[in-house]
Amino acid sequence: MSCRIVLGAQWGDEGKGKVVDYLSADADAVVRCQGGANAGHTVVVSGRKLALHLVPSGALHPHCEIILANGMVVDPLALVDEIEALERAGVELRSRLRLSTAAHTVLPCHRIQDQVEERRRGNGGIGTTGRGIGPAYADKAARTGIPLGWFQRDDANLRATLRVAIQHKLEWLRALAPDLAPEMDGDIERLVAAAAVLRPLLCDTTQRLHALVDANKHVVLEGAQGALLDLDHGSYPYVTSSSCTAAGVLSGCGLAPRDVTSVIGVVKAYATRVGNGPFPSEIAGADGERLRQIGHEFGATTGRPRRCGWFDAVAVRHAARISGCSELALTKLDVLDGFDRVLIADAYLCHGELLRHFPSDSETLAACKPRYVEAAGWSTPTTNCRRASDLPAAARRYVARIEDLVGVPVRLLSVGPEREATLHWGDSGR
Ligand code: IMP
Repeated sequence: MSCRIVLGAQWGDEGKGKVVDYLSADADAVVRCQGGANAGHTVVVSGRKLALHLVPSGALHPHCEIILANGMVVDPLALVDEIEALERAGVELRSRLRLSTAAHTVLPCHRIQDQVEERRRGNGGIGTTGRGIGPAYADKAARTGIPLGWFQRDDANLRATLRVAIQHKLEWLRALAPDLAPEMDGDIERLVAAAAVLRPLLCDTTQRLHALVDANKHVVLEGAQGALLDLDHGSYPYVTSSSCTAAGVLSGCGLAPRDVTSVIGVVKAYATRVGNGPFPSEIAGADGERLRQIGHEFGATTGRPRRCGWFDAVAVRHAARISGCSELALTKLDVLDGFDRVLIADAYLCHGELLRHFPSDSETLAACKPRYVEAAGWSTPTTNCRRASDLPAAARRYVARIEDLVGVPVRLLSVGPEREATLHWGDSGR
């Protein structure tokens, strides 16, 4: 039996999709627990490029059961689109996809609200993905949201429920943005049509997960976004609206800490952030642009260029500590090939003080300047390395340095997008 949590230990986009795909080869079920269509990864199926936002990348393994659990906010229209796109590419999903009746609905008006609120924030915007995530979680917390279980109602009943919720929201939105002219009837009919697709998939996913764990199955719990975007532990308000830590993953799916066999923190060999908010190790100049181009650092959900920086061991230590990471998966090491030197932030300087921890308020974090340790770069490409011992010595030293500074062992290393470009790092790498 195994129950592995895979979560991002930076600001999202760490390459969780690839790690989950790799680990799902022997998994019975892959579970999304929080977040919604703000997440995104691109997969290639039968030569077709598909962007997945709600369905985890483990879906590409036909034996894997796919569970979207209670803590998620699900856009029914986006989910139906994803199911249909995967099926067109030959990936059958409906017989193995289970959708929690307790997950909440992202309505089209939540997306509009997200965009209106961003517009009102002006320069102080969060830089959300515009997918309606914050508004849907806000309605859930205010007890005015729509659990997906209500999609089990008959069409007339569902139509009436949606009409009340959407009408109320639109009245409120029109007061904020009088230029808005969203149509409601078309959205309601699209949602009723989506309900016909989703109804057979709805169930009590908590019971299902308990049954899988009790039957000693292999379960992968896929965190979305990254621990540094966590609502409680990130740099508020520049965060997402869900809990992206191991604890958030568990509360989102109904498993308990004692069920967990390992917590894998996924980190990139450098750092990226999309959206606004403090980012101490951000690189402003040519090196940042070089990382962006070589690493294809453009958002899978919004296409926005990602901000790039050096590996921040202070931030990753914090992320690993709050989630109890037992190991790290280090991705995109190959993107650093050819750099003369690579830097790692090991502490911050803030108002004349040396900080070794990640501050809990974003204004202090914004005042932090990184203190770097420098490591030699490597010119030999790592992309074709298949064992840790094949890596250039300087690359091995860099990985060992990260392990030492974060205090968590690296187990997996990724040197390219393909499944085969995944190495096991152990003592042999040092
Ligand atoms: P929201 O989750 O769309 O509300 O966006 C809030 C913040 O989280 C913004 O800075 C987004 O760019 C960031 N964010 C949300 N989801 C992801 C993700 O999957 N990867 C990286 N950043 C994300």
